[in-house]
Amino acid sequence: MKGSFFIFRGKELSLVLIVLVSITIFLWAWDRTPLLSAFLPPKNQLLQLYAENVTLSHQTILLAVQTPAQKKENPLSVAEGLPKHKQGPKSEKGSSANNSTILREVRGDDKLTLGEKNLKQREQSLDEITPVDSTKTSRAKACNYAKGKWVVDNTRPLYSGFGCKQWLSGMWACRLMQRTDFAYENIRWQPKDCQMEEFEASKFLRRMQDKTIAFIGDSLGRQQFQSLMCMATGGEESPDIKDVGKEYGLVKAHGAIRPDGWAYRFPSSNTTILYYWSACLCDLEPLNITNPTTEYAMHLDRPPAFLRQYLHKFDVLVLNTGHHWNRGKVQANRWVMHVGGVPNTNRKIAEIAGAKNFTIHSIVSWVNSQLPEHPHLKAFYRSISPRHFVNGDWNTGGSCDNTTPMSIGKEVLQDVSSDYSAGSAVKGTGVKLLDITAISQLRDEGHISQVQY
Ligand SMILES: *[C@@H]1O[C@H](CO)[C@@H](O)[C@H](O)[C@H]1NC(C)=O
Ligand SMILES: *[C@@H]1O[C@H](CO)[C@@H](O)[C@H](O)[C@H]1NC(C)=O
Ligand SMILES: *[C@@H]1O[C@H](CO)[C@@H](O)[C@H](O)[C@H]1NC(C)=O
Ligand SMILES: *[C@@H]1O[C@H](CO)[C@@H](O)[C@H](O)[C@H]1NC(C)=O
Ligand SMILES: *[C@@H]1O[C@H](CO)[C@@H](O)[C@H](O)[C@H]1NC(C)=O
Ligand SMILES: *[C@@H]1O[C@H](CO)[C@@H](O)[C@H](O)[C@H]1NC(C)=O
Repeated sequence: MKGSFFIFRGKELSLVLIVLVSITIFLWAWDRTPLLSAFLPPKNQLLQLYAENVTLSHQTILLAVQTPAQKKENPLSVAEGLPKHKQGPKSEKGSSANNSTILREVRGDDKLTLGEKNLKQREQSLDEITPVDSTKTSRAKACNYAKGKWVVDNTRPLYSGFGCKQWLSGMWACRLMQRTDFAYENIRWQPKDCQMEEFEASKFLRRMQDKTIAFIGDSLGRQQFQSLMCMATGGEESPDIKDVGKEYGLVKAHGAIRPDGWAYRFPSSNTTILYYWSACLCDLEPLNITNPTTEYAMHLDRPPAFLRQYLHKFDVLVLNTGHHWNRGKVQANRWVMHVGGVPNTNRKIAEIAGAKNFTIHSIVSWVNSQLPEHPHLKAFYRSISPRHFVNGDWNTGGSCDNTTPMSIGKEVLQDVSSDYSAGSAVKGTGVKLLDITAISQLRDEGHISQVQY
């Protein structure tokens, strides 16, 4: 994996990367019955779609998030993207009955029979329809959404960076910068051999009725959160949306610059979207609470307290970490690695790359262990965003100022994630990989970069 070591850039560089974050989160519920698990393909680290027959305790959510984004202190490349889900390949043999299998949201009414489901669907006029094998004996070919290509699409972007001031941080709003080329906004991810449904905010909210979507991770998770807010509001001012941070303890502490996260609710659908800041996806505990410059135990094998406390309230969880795993940041934060509640002594883990890998495996494994108790939960781990510095790193003369879209390629055909830790951690678990690494690698033009503003 490239660029796993990210170095804090520092404020002296007022410039940030511009990024086009084009994230589509593809969420669906998969049945956790043994029957269905048996159908799970071996490569379950990839995003896949199943059009299946039986008890469709299904939920299909899609968020196509598209955002100009970046982070001030993070010279990260953030062209991230993930496709929407949808429908099996049209070429599927025997796929005669258009409406025979339905992937759609079921609001809590898991385990409907197919017939009931069809009925329900008509009643609710929900509309996800997937061609399926008419024999109904096999699921449709799974779609790997991380494979495909970037295509120019003039119906993009889904919102304007000028307009979405309510949710999009100014430092991440490319449209507020002086960059003059905007070709990077009109690009959409097209997965190979499968269709993606168009994102529509109203449809999305309807599917997410009464549901809570939680992003937990570093600033890249926050960008994803902001982007989704912009998409779900169409980038329009939305004074009706309620700040419900308090319900999650997300209030600004005394002397803090900002709270540890944000939570907003769409009154029209009672959908809650929240973000919680956890750069390491591990539990941080001050070693001496009365000391303002205390070190923190960084419990690599313990999920953030916030996640443990609120997991039961989440219907969708998207985790990410990565760019804070470097010696400089760990020291600057006064983090002391702990494993099993005591300072780490394992040499392999003491290496930053080892610690990161261990932590990602730990959190994914923990979330996986919680799935049986939280059957409504759809959990995703988002792979790392690649960096794009060429001819050196951020502090050694490198740059990432290409502005020509897709000049380094537009297609991804690999089956395996470029993010080793992410791919290996989700393997064999019920946590799905949101694999944006390789596809984002191709979006090096999406940075604010060196242009002075
Ligand atoms: C399925 O739907 C598509 C478009 O909605 C239509 O073109 C096609 O003819 C339909 N196929 C069948 C078998 O109904
Ligand atoms: C599928 O559903 C659509 C609308 O929901 C309907 O117009 C169409 O006739 C249906 N097709 C089949 C093959 O049942
Ligand atoms: C398809 O669904 C029917 C009705 O729920 C069920 O009886 C049958 O076993 C399912 N087929 C498969 C292959 O799962
Ligand atoms: C909103 O959704 C939550 C579940 O997320 C539910 O407990 C609550 O009753 C819903 N509120 C309304 C007004 O429907
Ligand atoms: C904790 O920090 C306070 C303030 O710096 C110090 O007085 C105290 O001795 C520390 N306690 C321990 C156990 O180190
Ligand atoms: C990553 O962590 C997992 C789980 O601890 C371990 O099995 C694997 O060997 C690690 N891989 C590397 C390259 O450290």
